[in-house]
Amino acid sequence: MKTVPGVSCVHEGISHVLAVFLKLRELRGTDAILDRILLEARKICRAEAGSILLVKEDRLVFSIVHNDFLFSADGINKHLYLNASVPIDDFSIAGFTAKHSETLLLDDVYALPRSYPFKFNPAFDKQSGYHTRSVLSLPLINFQGRVCAVIQLINSLGQDNKAVPFPEDSVACVSLLANHASACIENGMATSELILRTIRMSELRDPAETGPHVQRVGAYSAEIYHRMAQESGLDASEIKRRKDLVRMAAMLHDVGKVGISDVILKKPGKLTEGEYETMKRHTLYGAHLFRNSASELDVMAREIALNHHQRFDGKGYPGRVSNIEDVDAMTVGTMAGGDIPQPARIVALADVFDALISKRAYKEPWTMGMALDVIRKESGQQFDPEVVSAFLSILDVIEAIRGKYQEAG
Ligand code: C2E
Ligand code: SIN
Ligand code: SIN
Ligand code: FE
Ligand code: FE
Repeated sequence: MKTVPGVSCVHEGISHVLAVFLKLRELRGTDAILDRILLEARKICRAEAGSILLVKEDRLVFSIVHNDFLFSADGINKHLYLNASVPIDDFSIAGFTAKHSETLLLDDVYALPRSYPFKFNPAFDKQSGYHTRSVLSLPLINFQGRVCAVIQLINSLGQDNKAVPFPEDSVACVSLLANHASACIENGMATSELILRTIRMSELRDPAETGPHVQRVGAYSAEIYHRMAQESGLDASEIKRRKDLVRMAAMLHDVGKVGISDVILKKPGKLTEGEYETMKRHTLYGAHLFRNSASELDVMAREIALNHHQRFDGKGYPGRVSNIEDVDAMTVGTMAGGDIPQPARIVALADVFDALISKRAYKEPWTMGMALDVIRKESGQQFDPEVVSAFLSILDVIEAIRGKYQEAG
């Protein structure tokens, strides 16, 4: 196997990498960061496909997958919710890269020398009809010197768009990008960690607001947003950036439940009218938590927390609110249709869909068919019809998300 010497970058390569550094700093959510890093790394060596695997405990989890031959990187696709991981050991390409913190340059993965401890896993090729040939597999090392991710680039395209071995001089550029990328990834993970920690705090209070529920609502909302944004003419990188904001802000939709007493929150049966009135205040409490910040994420989190129970026909709650600076904010009017911020209209559907098909202290899970019937029936009443049709057009992705984020046990 060839390990990689410090080949100097070609001049263009360096300025390209610098430009990428600047762009990466603007991104905060992990998904958008990973997506960008992978795209830029692939550009450097014309890789047709690739993936980034993040280290989670003793495994590598597939976190982003690109494959120009099979699907567009700007499209909506279920492969992003691939529920797959490999152990960090000697026996897979990615595992070896992470375990030994070593870059691997492999010209043909179907003809690896027998002396190598690792084997190529042809499962994805078999299932998708793709043919993997050359692979460049690099460790991403954080400032503590530990591997935090592996980036795998697949099939460098030569002159007639046939897969050829990766050119050795592209490796140094990709390594430079990878070294910077690890800092960005860790930053992004720190943001996501903070959000998940906030949510875990509220999960302690409300057993229904589980980690997986919150991840699903975030992911459904992000994908519905992506579908709707495709028709809006926004450019692809702006869509990805906003998609990540939607995902993170949507995860925070119910944090206001921390302000509701256990007696109500954990009640096994139906709420009384009075209890339900109290429960409704979780929207105001949530908005109040984000009241002071002007960061884009906080603004969106505030809009979603406040408005995720508004109905399109104006019969939802809390309606138009006097002043969220005030914990005792009052409803002063109704709010309907396009006056409800779009991310909140999206989360309204994503949250109810997930609540319906999940078990709650107060109800059994519904079947998918029953849930879809309600969503179709409520189009134009409870839900924005545009959100409903975007949702119904990506049911394969919705299913993949359900498969990825399942309740433990
Ligand atoms: P949640 O459990 O996350 O439910 C979110 C939303 O999903 C509900 O908002 C409602 O619009 C929808 N939903 C959930 N289950 C059903 C159902 O069986 N039928 C229909 N048609 N819709 C359903 P909603 O009603 O404003 O409730 C907000 C939160 O209040 C709920 O969040 C839950 O934490 C609590 N809650 C609502 N009703 C009850 C209840 O009867 N008992 C208890 N213990 N909690 C309740
Ligand atoms: C490997 O690195 O061999 C595992 C990745 C895959 O399953 O394609
Ligand atoms: C209620 O009116 O108590 C809420 C009903 C429900 O959504 O489960
Ligand atoms: Fe809620
Ligand atoms: Fe919820």
